[in-house]
Amino acid sequence: VREITVAIPGREHIYRVFVGAGLLAQAGTLLEVDRYSKVFVVTDEHMEKLALPKLQAALPEGHDYVAVPPGEAGKTIGTVERIWQAMRAAGCDRHSLVLILGGGVTGDMGAFAASTYMRGVAFAHLPTTLLAQVDSSIGGKTGVDFDGLKNLVGTFAQAVAVVSDTDLLATLPKRELRAGFGEMLKHGLISDADYFAQLTKKRPEDYTAAELELFIAKSVRIKAGVVEADETEGGRRKLMNFGHTVGHAIEALSWDTGHPLLHGEAVAIGLVVEADLSRRQGFITAADVACVQQAVELAGLPGAVPDLAMADIMTKMRGDKKDERGVIMFDLLAGIGRAVYGQVIDDAVVEEVLKRHMEAAGAR
Ligand SMILES: NC(=O)c1ccc[n+]([C@@H]2O[C@H](COP(=O)([O-])OP(=O)(O)OC[C@H]3O[C@@H](n4cnc5c(N)ncnc54)[C@H](O)[C@@H]3O)[C@@H](O)[C@H]2O)c1
Ligand SMILES: [Zn+2]
Repeated sequence: VREITVAIPGREHIYRVFVGAGLLAQAGTLLEVDRYSKVFVVTDEHMEKLALPKLQAALPEGHDYVAVPPGEAGKTIGTVERIWQAMRAAGCDRHSLVLILGGGVTGDMGAFAASTYMRGVAFAHLPTTLLAQVDSSIGGKTGVDFDGLKNLVGTFAQAVAVVSDTDLLATLPKRELRAGFGEMLKHGLISDADYFAQLTKKRPEDYTAAELELFIAKSVRIKAGVVEADETEGGRRKLMNFGHTVGHAIEALSWDTGHPLLHGEAVAIGLVVEADLSRRQGFITAADVACVQQAVELAGLPGAVPDLAMADIMTKMRGDKKDERGVIMFDLLAGIGRAVYGQVIDDAVVEEVLKRHMEAAGAR
């Protein structure tokens, strides 16, 4: 078992992240569930079949659970209401512990429900996707999508602990495994060139379980380091947004196209476009951009912007919460392994770079 400690500054809040094989069966002990009045599990309908029985075997009698529909489409306040209702029906009080078993969607939503129920009850993440193990379970951002915008409504709330059982990845579909690499490549690009190089040696599905475990621990350390420096995104944490200004806009727009992108896929496209924006702003070379593009391709992730209206992409980016005073802010690369935040770029330049990366541009 690898154990990483995350310390949240000024909050006296420290939590442990456990990464390793077979940890689900030890969850009750690792999380000291006996200290709570009630254990309540939030999961999705896939994980209800694939992982919940194993977790339940490790929990005290008298626990309850709710299973929500899987997928981004259900990441809504309506689903949160169902979680609150189930918690209420189960008799959860302020001393209950909510265990969140699932990917980033369940994680963001379950943590939001827990952080608002009775003004907040303790929760722990038991992430089941690669993306959730490397990124979304760390750092305390919770939320739901609202009015066509990603994560518009949410809270900052830290888990009491995170238990990442790497055995769970065995059932993860290949497309989901690759999506996790979108965030992992981001971690390497913004802060660790060596890690980025390790991630670009093979296709995601060709790494061994042991190699993946090392990567997960590495990514957790990188994200934890950034969060420790800045919990609520005053500055440094924004580096985690690299690829996400463009990525979130494309992800949200893809919902209405009949070909919805996974979050990690949209992020991959964002990495390529925002790397090119970094070049256009004079931060990195064309060779660096090619390097990012090749990494995304090797990971089997999309690298081109789908055929969307330019005005819609610009509007979505402006509507995203990262805007300050109506200006679109970008968090860019200053090199492979280094990032800068809060960059303002002329709309005309952004459009020019986006256009260059449109799928249709290549087809023409
Ligand atoms: N809070 C944060 O800091 C943060 C960071 C990054 C991403 N996110 C959010 O995370 C979400 C994406 O998360 P995701 O990619 O994990 O998606 P997800 O939660 O939708 O999971 C993907 C799919 O895989 C299934 N699944 C999960 N684990 C499985 C397993 N072990 N075996 C088989 N199937 C499994 C799920 O049921 C689902 O159908 C987005 O909404 C994104 O905004 C949040
Ligand atoms: Zn992300």
